[in-house]
Amino acid sequence: MILNGKKIAEEIKAELANEVRLLAANGQRPPHLAAILVGNDGASETYVASKVKSCETIGFGSTLVRLPADVSEEQLLHEIDSINANDEIDGLIVQLPLPKHIDEQKVTERVIPEKDVDGFHPVNVGKLVLGLPTFVSATPKGIMEMLKRYDIETSGKHCVVLGRSNIVGTPMANLMSRNSYPGNCTVTLCHSRTKDLVSYTRSADILIVALGRPEFVTADMVKEGAVVIDVGITRVEDSTNPRGYVLKGDVAFDEIEKKASFITPVPGGVGRTTITALLQNTLQARLNNVKPSKLHNHVS
Ligand code: GUN
Repeated sequence: MILNGKKIAEEIKAELANEVRLLAANGQRPPHLAAILVGNDGASETYVASKVKSCETIGFGSTLVRLPADVSEEQLLHEIDSINANDEIDGLIVQLPLPKHIDEQKVTERVIPEKDVDGFHPVNVGKLVLGLPTFVSATPKGIMEMLKRYDIETSGKHCVVLGRSNIVGTPMANLMSRNSYPGNCTVTLCHSRTKDLVSYTRSADILIVALGRPEFVTADMVKEGAVVIDVGITRVEDSTNPRGYVLKGDVAFDEIEKKASFITPVPGGVGRTTITALLQNTLQARLNNVKPSKLHNHVS
C-alpha cells in the first residue's frame, strides 16, 4: 500500500486552517513563519517556495528574506537578530545548505530556541533526546505523523534507519526508540561504516532511508511485508524530461512496492509531510505566545 503523503498533508493543512480560524475567533493573529534563503540553489528555492505557498494556503503569515550568495556571515546574523526580536513573527528557518564561507552551526545557534521551528538549535535537540516537549525537526516529525495516521504498528518492531544526519537519521532513531506511539521499536542506526548493511536492512520491519543516494535500496535488501519510508529526493539528470531532471528517492520504488506492506513514493511522500510538520511547529510557536486565558475552544 502506498503511503499517500499528499493526502495526509491535505488533512493536516485543513486542521491548521481551522486553528487559524479559531485564533481569529479569539481575536488573535495567525501564526507567522519567516524563511531566510541565501543564494540561488535550485532545490532550496523550490523547498522555500513550497513552504511559503503552504503558509498562504492555510492562512498563516509568511516573510521570505532573500540574501545574495556572497552575503557576509555578519549580515546574515544581523537579519536573524532582527527577526528574533520581532514579536509579529513566531517561527524562523534559515534554509540549508548555506554557502561555504558561512558557519552553519553559528547560524543555527543564533535563532532563538523559541522561534526555532526547524528544531535545529542545540537546546531543542537536547530536549528531543530527553523526551521533553520541543520543536521536533520537520522530516522526522512528518514521518511520525504519517505512521500514526496510517495506524501502522510499531511496538516491538525492528526499525532500521539508514543515515545518521542531525536533521533526519539521528532524531528519527531517537523518536522510534521512545516509549510512546509511534515508537517502542528496537532501533538500528546504520551509516557509511556499517559492515554487512544488507543483513540489517533485511531484518527491518520498518526501514527508514535518508541517504540522498538515488535508488540505493533494492528489492533484495528488503524483507517481505516491511514498511519502507523513503526520505531521499535527488535531482537526477534526464534529457527526456522538460525540466532536464527527474526526482529520485533512495529506494527503487517499482521493485520494492510489490514486497513492502507500506511504502512512501517520491515525490508525494515524505516531502509533503515535512512541510506540514514545519507548519505544525509554527502553530505551536504561536500558541506558546498566547496566554491561555485568551483562547477558548482550542484543541491543541
Ligand atoms: N535543508 C534540507 N532540509 C531542511 C530543513 O528541514 N530545514 C532547513 N532550514 N533547511 C533544510
